[in-house]
Amino acid sequence: MINYHMHFSNVKGMLQHPDGTVLKQLQPPPRGPRELNFYNMVFGSSCHDHVFLELRKFLPKFLGTWTPTTAPNELYLKLEDVTRKFKKPCIMDVKIGKKSYDPDASAEKIQQQISKYPLMEEIGFLVLGMRVYQFSSDSYMTYDQRYGRGLTKETLKDGLSRFFHDGSCLRKDAVAASIREVERILQWFENQNKLCFYASSLLFVYEGSPQLTAMGVGDAPRKLAAPKGTKRTGEVVEHNNNVHVMNSSESRMVEASVGQSLSNMYALHRKGCFKAHQSMVPLHLKNAEQDRSICKCLTLISPGQPNGNEIKQLEKDLMHTSSMLQEPPEVDVRMIDFAHVFPSNTKDEEYIYGLKHLISVLRNMLDD
Ligand SMILES: Nc1ncnc2c1ncn2[C@@H]1O[C@H](COP(=O)(O)OP(=O)(O)OP(=O)(O)O)[C@@H](O)[C@H]1O
Ligand SMILES: [Mg+2]
Repeated sequence: MINYHMHFSNVKGMLQHPDGTVLKQLQPPPRGPRELNFYNMVFGSSCHDHVFLELRKFLPKFLGTWTPTTAPNELYLKLEDVTRKFKKPCIMDVKIGKKSYDPDASAEKIQQQISKYPLMEEIGFLVLGMRVYQFSSDSYMTYDQRYGRGLTKETLKDGLSRFFHDGSCLRKDAVAASIREVERILQWFENQNKLCFYASSLLFVYEGSPQLTAMGVGDAPRKLAAPKGTKRTGEVVEHNNNVHVMNSSESRMVEASVGQSLSNMYALHRKGCFKAHQSMVPLHLKNAEQDRSICKCLTLISPGQPNGNEIKQLEKDLMHTSSMLQEPPEVDVRMIDFAHVFPSNTKDEEYIYGLKHLISVLRNMLDD
């Protein structure tokens, strides 16, 4: 207990440990025991059902239960921290399905759930919260439940695209990778008729740190106004969901590599060698749109010898731009929150509806 600290977004009991796990306190019955049974069934050593074995890869690993010695009546699920491997995790929780109440819900509960988001039936998903790393300001934007509930069919695409916006560019690379992940989950749902999921979520995580990922593909820099339900938090290190904080030797390596790319890029710029630069772009990034966006970033660099301020700006832009030349993005999409999973003998059409609609909204973002 001592080593756990409260999770960034959830004051209701998610605790995070530096060993790479989170603890979720069991909710009161029937929800908590239902979720525990679900995890036991899927991760139990006696489980040989291929449907459940397949499902494992879309869930956080379940590492059993945990009870603090000081509170022997409390029970927690010990789960893999999905955000652990990310330096600057951008996180979004999206509730999936047409209904966020289960078949056992009372009339009162049904009314309460519908009134929270009457569009759930039509839209099939609801953004519960987001936390987005802003490269340009080195801070996080957070979006709470009010933000998601304010989204309508008309504003859904823009609303969701905030999750992929780093303050100056839309991370189309992360959008595309997220689509692929959701499609894998959809495939599992198309092939199973054993379980129905109500009020369950997909947890999206992608790497916001520009050192690790392809960035800013295809969108012109633009500033975004802060809508209802959003908040900008301060300096990054404190607000990093991930316990890992870059140590000094890591940051020296980053500085060195930035310095290197800065001098390379600056030399290229002076020679007007945009073509030479583009030829360094890996094949999978090579298309007209991506080339255009590299040029957009390069045009931020002023000609001639830069002054001190310009060098700082230049470094930022180049970190941003040169990162487009690296690996495909790290993106993880996992199913979480299983307090309302029920046995079934049909496909979970309402969850599938939500997944398909979500995929189509994400695809539309790529078309802009
Ligand atoms: N395995 C995990 N790794 C990292 N973060 C997680 C994990 N599971 C949950 N979280 C974080 O904790 C939040 C709440 O998780 P979950 O929905 O399972 O709990 P809950 O008690 O049902 O909370 P709520 O009532 O708010 O939905 C998620 O939105 C996510 O940010
Ligand atoms: Mg939840």
